[in-house]
Amino acid sequence: MKVLILEQTSELSELMGLYISSLSSAEVISVHRLSEAQNELKDAGINVVILNQSFTEAGKDSFFVDCKTLHPSTSIVIVGDGPLPAGAAYLVHPGHLVQELKEMMKASFWKAHSGKPTEVPVPLSPYLVYRLGVCPADLFLKLGENNWVKLFNQGAPFGEEDRIKFEQKGLKEFYILSDDIHRAIDYFGDLLSSLKASSLIEDAPLVADAGEFLWQSLKENGFREEFQKLASEAIKGSLILIRKEPELKKFVEKMFRPEHAWMVRHNLIIAHVACALASQMGWNSEQTYQKIATAALLHDMALPRLDQDEEVWLMGVGGEKISVNLDHEMKSFLQHPIEGSEMVRRHKSIAPDTDKIILEHHELPDGHGFPRGLSAHQISPLGAVFIFSHAIATILIHEKDPRKWNMAMLKDRLSQDRWINGHFKKAWQALEMTNLFG
Ligand SMILES: [Fe+2]
Ligand SMILES: [Fe+2]
Repeated sequence: MKVLILEQTSELSELMGLYISSLSSAEVISVHRLSEAQNELKDAGINVVILNQSFTEAGKDSFFVDCKTLHPSTSIVIVGDGPLPAGAAYLVHPGHLVQELKEMMKASFWKAHSGKPTEVPVPLSPYLVYRLGVCPADLFLKLGENNWVKLFNQGAPFGEEDRIKFEQKGLKEFYILSDDIHRAIDYFGDLLSSLKASSLIEDAPLVADAGEFLWQSLKENGFREEFQKLASEAIKGSLILIRKEPELKKFVEKMFRPEHAWMVRHNLIIAHVACALASQMGWNSEQTYQKIATAALLHDMALPRLDQDEEVWLMGVGGEKISVNLDHEMKSFLQHPIEGSEMVRRHKSIAPDTDKIILEHHELPDGHGFPRGLSAHQISPLGAVFIFSHAIATILIHEKDPRKWNMAMLKDRLSQDRWINGHFKKAWQALEMTNLFG
């Protein structure tokens, strides 16, 4: 990364250069004469130009205009009292120069150029970018731990050829900086809402991709109002697909590609199974489906690690008590239903009781669940359906190959005598009557 500084006094220019070099790996060129800066600007490798406001004010002949014309992708930082000229990336106030420069190095434009994001970036599927046709943010490739390379700039076109080239190299994911999540979320919300319900079945992987990206973003940020549009579009899309494809194996076949993460499978299979059971029990209102699909998307948002739900379920099935040897990670795992339900309760747009399903999703009919150790009779009806569906989804995903999924295997793994109390009994009966596997 190359930075060019143009300040009228040579001491200040040098000082700023030294400070930036001490905090980053950028190569810094400090100059104080316009002619020197113009000379340096001939080098096409300059990523950031930092210049005093006075060099923006000479109309057509200003250095600012030179930078914009010669290197449109170079980010320009203005040192002055503002306002920030159109096309400049950042404003540094000269009053607290050291502090301001430090802040500047946290800004997304700087991180994008440095190629070394300080925060953990969020993965994004190339297919989703391809469907958008344009890069919603700067796209990075992960070369190793803390080793990133920027492959595409925000706004660059991204067509089928780009996707194929990328996937042929065996690369599965892009990454975007967490600062760019909001922008990408808006793009994908618009993309999903533009899909027609009639053609959605062909676009099923897009719903899974958007759900996966949303889930990663939620993990970084918690559930925030800005995510509302994409969340509701993803939920709407998943419900249309669930209604269109009641046979679970076909739903899975259409929805997922091999690279889809465990969590997105977990969430969507739970939604599918729980809607099927609820509908068998006569609870087939849109509102019930909404609560189920929303809880399915958000229930593990507060999990410390991705596939812990499966791990703990398998421990439980193996007879291990999860209350022994509580390490730090396990303690925070036991809190995730509480944290997740609290995050959801704060949002008026989410239907009431969705938080209750999330709070209850690790309770068990024998009273050995968590966080409250409720008995089967204390667990709410929809909570029971969700818990049962959560168990079903976990067993099926663990079995991996959907061709081996069938009712006999599932019932054997679930063992009926665990599910005979409270609303679990009705949920079991509903399972026996549904045509989940065609
Ligand atoms: Fe969970
Ligand atoms: Fe879960």
